Amino acid sequence: MVKPQQVEVYPDVAALSVAAGQRFLQLAQAAVARHSVFTVALAGGSTPRGLYTALATDPHLRAAIPWARIHFFFGDERHVPPGHPDSNFRMADEAMFQRLPREWLHVHRLPGELPDPAEAADIYAAEMRRFFEAQGLMEDEFPRFDLVLLGMGPDGHTASLFHGTPALQETRRWVVANWVEKLKTHRITMTLPVLNRAAGIIMLVAGAEKAPILAEVLELTAPEPKYPVQMVQPVKGTKRWMLDKAAAAELTAVQT
Ligand code: 6PG
Repeated sequence: MVKPQQVEVYPDVAALSVAAGQRFLQLAQAAVARHSVFTVALAGGSTPRGLYTALATDPHLRAAIPWARIHFFFGDERHVPPGHPDSNFRMADEAMFQRLPREWLHVHRLPGELPDPAEAADIYAAEMRRFFEAQGLMEDEFPRFDLVLLGMGPDGHTASLFHGTPALQETRRWVVANWVEKLKTHRITMTLPVLNRAAGIIMLVAGAEKAPILAEVLELTAPEPKYPVQMVQPVKGTKRWMLDKAAAAELTAVQT
């Protein structure tokens, strides 16, 4: 059961996006003050588009964010080229990166276009290792992101960690290829050991279709985690749910 104070509800996706943008700015400024960079693993799907757009276009956020100190990574990617409509990189690129001077940006793209998704996972993990070891930003042999942004599907998946898929059992590798039977496709995803080493996790969830699962995830105390999103538990960090009113409609323990 997540304590109510870790859940914030906003009237709509626009308000949620601006609030998440302000939280992003706070975390970025604190991280840069602490260790000169801000490392963030971006979420895919559609919900974060509003946040990414706000970061690049809200005058206050755009001016205050220490862009050149940020290293953008991707928590997961589809097994598609970067220009594909399903690409998480393409979504973030259209919403944010294309709206900013290229010289401000350090974007570590997950090469989802590679024919072998396992090779893509290994290449990305090696790039992460080079960066995090050089920066001294490790936590017991895993990279410690300053921020991991995650969404949640109506089935309780997060990143590309779907119920019943092999990636959920991974305890050593940082990034893996994950066959998702229900989608009949591979995904490439960071694993729970990496996600759970984050200093800050923000769960960004919007839309009425998420309300039933959110009530179950946040308010039913089951002995064992039933959904992948419940296995996201920061070892030494914070986990904040940032919701719109529609997604929070079935919650009883928080003011919506
Ligand atoms: C992805 C995401 C995935 C997403 C959820 C919610 O690659 O699709 O990583 O975990 O966050 O499916 O997606 P929506 O924001 O589109 O509802």
